[in-house]
Amino acid sequence: MKKIIIINGSPNKEGHTNKIVDSILEGINPNVEIKHINCYDMNINPCIDCKYCSKVLGECSIKDSMTDIYKHIQECDIIILASPMYFGMFPSPLKSLIDRCQVLWSKKFIFKQNTKERKQGIFIFNGGSSWNNMFNPMETIGKYFFNTLNCDISFKLYIDNTDINYNYINKHYDDILRCQNMINVEVH
Ligand SMILES: Cc1cc2nc3c(=O)[nH]c(=O)nc-3n(C[C@H](O)[C@H](O)[C@H](O)COP(=O)(O)O)c2cc1C
Repeated sequence: MKKIIIINGSPNKEGHTNKIVDSILEGINPNVEIKHINCYDMNINPCIDCKYCSKVLGECSIKDSMTDIYKHIQECDIIILASPMYFGMFPSPLKSLIDRCQVLWSKKFIFKQNTKERKQGIFIFNGGSSWNNMFNPMETIGKYFFNTLNCDISFKLYIDNTDINYNYINKHYDDILRCQNMINVEVH
């Protein structure tokens, strides 16, 4: 069975990020295993650069929710990175999750334990206001993150102006359908 994980950076259960993610999941093949990782519900401490993961393969010195999250990330086929923008970047619990994936960076680049299998990745970012190229910083960090996870970017859905325009699901309906199709083809 194919596995999707949703790494969600929003603290708002009824917020924009969750509405967009739900609208995509509505059209997904039911034979897919979906794991939600809500960063704000987890115990994810920041990376302390202790260098443990560069000496001990695949392990972090900090024992918290990341122990399970490493497993889910490595076992999944598709990763959806879904997040609001906070001061141009990911909210801090999600940024902590990304930093803690230094364990997987060390595994790949120091221990050279790389798998040939590629994952598919989707960015779903949203922000309250709007300016040119506003999602570029999140996209850049998201790319570094996905590169470490052997994950190709298959789809990007960026929604701006959420603070003033609540009609974004209708406005982006075609993108939502395209994203569902991409997932359904991949998990078929
Ligand atoms: C601490 C904080 C910082 C924010 N920074 C930005 C920002 O830099 N740019 C922007 O467009 N919106 C910003 N916003 C607005 C959120 O990105 C926007 O309301 C988003 O849609 C919230 O998503 P959610 O409902 O899923 O949590 C910020 C909101 C908060 C709480």
